[in-house]
Amino acid sequence: MNKKEFAKRRQQLMEIMGPDSIAVLPNASVATRSRDVDYIYRSDSNFHYLSGFDEPESVIVIVPGRPHGEYLLFCRDRNLEKEIWDGYRAGQEGAVDQFGADDSYPISDLDDILPGLMEGKEQVFYTMGNVPPFDQRMVSWLNHLRNASRQGMHSPTEIIELDHCLNELRLFKSSNEIKAMRRAAEISVQAHIRAMQFTQPGKWEYQVEAEIVHEFMKHDCRSPAYPSIVGGGENGCILHYIENNHRLKNNELLLIDAGAEYDYYAADITRTFPINGKFSTSQKALYNIVLDAQKAAIAEVKPGNHWNQPHEAAVQVLTEGLLELGLLKGKLKTLIEKEKYRDFYMHRTGHWLGMDVHDVGDYKIGGEWRMLEPGMVLTVEPGIYIRDPVHLAKKWHFTGIRIEDDVLVTKTGHDVLTQAAPKEVDDIEALMATARH
Ligand code: GLY
Ligand code: MN
Ligand code: MN
Repeated sequence: MNKKEFAKRRQQLMEIMGPDSIAVLPNASVATRSRDVDYIYRSDSNFHYLSGFDEPESVIVIVPGRPHGEYLLFCRDRNLEKEIWDGYRAGQEGAVDQFGADDSYPISDLDDILPGLMEGKEQVFYTMGNVPPFDQRMVSWLNHLRNASRQGMHSPTEIIELDHCLNELRLFKSSNEIKAMRRAAEISVQAHIRAMQFTQPGKWEYQVEAEIVHEFMKHDCRSPAYPSIVGGGENGCILHYIENNHRLKNNELLLIDAGAEYDYYAADITRTFPINGKFSTSQKALYNIVLDAQKAAIAEVKPGNHWNQPHEAAVQVLTEGLLELGLLKGKLKTLIEKEKYRDFYMHRTGHWLGMDVHDVGDYKIGGEWRMLEPGMVLTVEPGIYIRDPVHLAKKWHFTGIRIEDDVLVTKTGHDVLTQAAPKEVDDIEALMATARH
């Protein structure tokens, strides 16, 4: 993202906040992997959204209308000794020159400076609970101001959830954001194609994962947007399976749910395909039910429809299909009303997608499902999972199928960002057949 985009976002936030207010947003903490080894650092999504600044131990402060600067960034000092070991720091000069802060202070000065910035403001935009040690500091600054009221200081009267304001902004993607999401989608599509070409009986799930991650990194995505799910056979029934440590068996299906993160934006794709390159009759029957359900759900993604309509369409087609195959018994209407499909389909049909894979934004407003609007991006991902085979014929045992695409709501309907990942039975089989020559 360019500097202008970050400035525009801060401007939008300031318009929501209004005068006499201040926003305080600490960045995510560094997480320990083991002993003195940390996980690779990633900024909190809201923090990156407003600043593009990706160092830990940093705090954004926004004060609309402040004459000496509205956007302040507290960050680490430059420190040659530390930078030799751990890498470059922007320091206060970099925060201003490279990241567009109006002013910047060392993070160690926060206690001295922040209470003064909050003094006299009516509203503090801050989200409790994200960084608990920071919550304690916020409480102590607020207490300090309250106790100092006898000296004529004015303490804020309202704490307003900052995340909620940012979540609403993030739900509607700008053209630059859509560009980044298209790129994340394209790269992820290529990774799924490569996984289909690579897969054979006898390979290990993590070997397929390696192909995917290599494709991501080759195309500038340092990290997947979430741990890749590569589940052969019954592992495909475990919704968040990430062990990826089993050998792939002939005659089973492989479910892959993997998406790249490109410039802080996620893709989220699932494809399910036969490990030996050819669907069996029963696999094909189940697969086509899921595919039809997914297409029916995608058709419901358009302005004027509400959030739950794609899910309702998917449930209808899945239940009809399961009834037709004899996996469910009874009346269609009753099966849907009593949610009998949940034995086979226990999750919902999608979620918002953006900087976080399960992105922010309300799904209901005033107790009603939210209407879909242009600029929103969601996933559509129905599935069928047969885990408990006791009462079912052997041909259905332990099958997990999910098909997931990323869909942008446009003015006239929708645009499937991940359309190029093969999902028709014939297309998958043809691709896998060419890979075997
Ligand atoms: N990859 C997580 C999900 O599909 O929701
Ligand atoms: Mn998803
Ligand atoms: Mn997924």
